[in-house]
Amino acid sequence: MNERIDTARTELLKRFETLDVKRDILKAPELRELYGGMKNLSNDERPAYGQAINELRTELERMIAEAEAAEADANVTPIDVTAPFDQNVVAARRPHALPAAEGSIHPLMRELDHVLDIFYRMGFTAVESRQLDDDYHMFSALNFPEGHPARDDYDTFMTVETDKNGKQFIAPAHTSTMQNRVLQQYKSNLDEGKPIAAVIPGRVFRNEDLDARHEHTFYQLEGIYVDKGIHAGNLLATFKTFLSNYYQQDIDIKSQPFYFPFTEPSFELALSCPFCQKKGCNVCSYSGWIELLGMGLIHPNVLKEAGIDPNEYTGFAWGGGIERLVMMKYNIEDIRHFEAGKLEFLRQFS
Ligand code: DAH
Repeated sequence: MNERIDTARTELLKRFETLDVKRDILKAPELRELYGGMKNLSNDERPAYGQAINELRTELERMIAEAEAAEADANVTPIDVTAPFDQNVVAARRPHALPAAEGSIHPLMRELDHVLDIFYRMGFTAVESRQLDDDYHMFSALNFPEGHPARDDYDTFMTVETDKNGKQFIAPAHTSTMQNRVLQQYKSNLDEGKPIAAVIPGRVFRNEDLDARHEHTFYQLEGIYVDKGIHAGNLLATFKTFLSNYYQQDIDIKSQPFYFPFTEPSFELALSCPFCQKKGCNVCSYSGWIELLGMGLIHPNVLKEAGIDPNEYTGFAWGGGIERLVMMKYNIEDIRHFEAGKLEFLRQFS
């Protein structure tokens, strides 16, 4: 009896190879004959025979599923990294690029969510910046007149195509390009007696010599706050609150005078090293302080350009690199890890 099934099995496997539509094997005469043979058996023989045929049928069905999966695969990309893990599907038995079947959130984006969350709780709203902008928003709206030498501090990439004013488009070198747009978008708040309070995360670009602290592509967080009677004390208090929240410890800050065309006065802000609490360590180059970002009171010309009366309203703004903030939290020694796609690095945060 088993011999009969074995012979049929050999025939079926041969036939399977020749079929274009593999599923047709289930209609093969050899299989039909095996089922037909059932009725000539005694009641004692029938169960074992029936079970043997069922096993053969299961084997054929598995071969059909494999063949169909391989065919579907051949019609799409070579490896579908989003496919659910299923032992019965051929694609699932290929080597996996990542042990986690679904990947994970990039550490920078996860930290950005934390940062935004803190600012949301302080009443700020978020607006994303653009990855391609124009000369007006990069410079003119920010009080850098044509030919102003400070334009040279923002050396970035430009398109060959030009805008309607004959200026090349610019891969923005900072998120400040959004200031004019955000001021215009929210200036009706002021008429309603409410402040303008916005944070602007975004990707920025610079023509940099790369090293452990400099990348050509990185992320910044810009912030803007405008209302009646705003002064530098409000700016420093906002930042101390934010940093103490982000690093979950009491952070000291200090500011020193600096120059930006779009703020007056302008400062550079340093924070007490969250690693050594000012005792001195390799993160802060043994100085106890780390320079973090640029800030200041928004220049009257920038407010005027957005249609806000600087005699009535004042405001503060800041901008700085998000990577730097995160590097200090986790003692990450090289900014290039973030964009390198190195799994050893990414897995530490997944
Ligand atoms: N955009 C400046 C930079 O990337 C940083 C900055 C300074 C932003 C002062 C501001 C500001 O909003 O008020 O170098």
